[in-house]
Amino acid sequence: PTTAPTGGASAGLGAEVKIGAVLPMTGDVATFGKSSKQGLDLLIEQYNANGGINGSKIVLVVEDDENKPESGVAALQKLINNDKVVGVVGSVASKVTLAMAPVATQSKVPMVSSSSTNPGVTALAGNEYAFRACFIDPFQGTVIAKFASETLKAKTAAVLYDVANDYTVGLAEFFTAAFEAAGGKVVSSQSYNTGDTDFNAQLTTIKPLNPDVLILTDYYQTVGLIAKQARNLGITGTFLGGDGWDSPDLVTIAGDSIEGGYFSNHYSSEDTSPEVTQFLNDYKAKYNETPDALAALAYDAGKMLLEAIKKANSTDGAAIVEALKATDMTSVTGTIKLDENRNPVKPAVMIQIKDGKQAFASKVNP
Ligand code: PHE
Repeated sequence: PTTAPTGGASAGLGAEVKIGAVLPMTGDVATFGKSSKQGLDLLIEQYNANGGINGSKIVLVVEDDENKPESGVAALQKLINNDKVVGVVGSVASKVTLAMAPVATQSKVPMVSSSSTNPGVTALAGNEYAFRACFIDPFQGTVIAKFASETLKAKTAAVLYDVANDYTVGLAEFFTAAFEAAGGKVVSSQSYNTGDTDFNAQLTTIKPLNPDVLILTDYYQTVGLIAKQARNLGITGTFLGGDGWDSPDLVTIAGDSIEGGYFSNHYSSEDTSPEVTQFLNDYKAKYNETPDALAALAYDAGKMLLEAIKKANSTDGAAIVEALKATDMTSVTGTIKLDENRNPVKPAVMIQIKDGKQAFASKVNP
């Protein structure tokens, strides 16, 4: 989709550049959608206050995917066919982004996921127009495993995952491989299905094994329920998880049960880098909230896309893809430079839930 240059806009871009976002604004991970949209809105406001992209005003169209793959695909098709967007940010969950990537590629519309960490998003054939701003789960699983064995001195682990969620399946697998390589033993691997709310059967199996750590690979809602039910059964192991824990609702759902747990994440609001400091100030001024990793990653994913459009100075998908591949920027979640598989190589942080709040525990370089 090329827009003819009009008015005072520079050659290559029209008076307006329309981009889309596909985000879980409703459903089981709605805080992810809200934070991501806020990060993206802030970014676009800042660009537009500074001349947009090469003089063209940026217009953002947001669609809800309800955290469902089929809704994500429908949202993407609407953005491409009706709104004629030149690029898309999204989605959050790997299972949704995995469904969208072939559609974007066939339509030659580049998409940049903020936070989908499953390797398949960029690795699968037919997903060549998919990019992301985050690290990937083989790294994240290793970070959690190393923290368990080296910092917590854990020897045994139980792993719980959702069979119908690519993210949790992958994270469970990558954790297991890394933990066993470090000399640990996964004594139980338990699965369930999306939407399940009763985990007593799985937890009853785990209890007599008394694992040092329990790896809860899911998003905050399910993690909250599992943590509660585990403590009710008298399970005492330390809870560990991944980026899917990052929501203010985790503690609301889990209460004291999640106290002392740790999760890996993409950024810490306690980071004192100039980029994080600036972002925190701007975000707090606009929303009166501390941004979580979803907000930071959506800001960075949007920036990757806008910078690529600017560099290409074109709305042509193939030209934007080439510019995206050459991404080299330092932003809120670190330096984003892509490897040969179009994945950023960047550090992770470990965060502890302490007194019901997130506290920075450590930073792990790739
Ligand atoms: N990494 C998760 C996925 O791929 C999504 C997520 C990222 C959730 C960051 C919370 C924070 O499904």
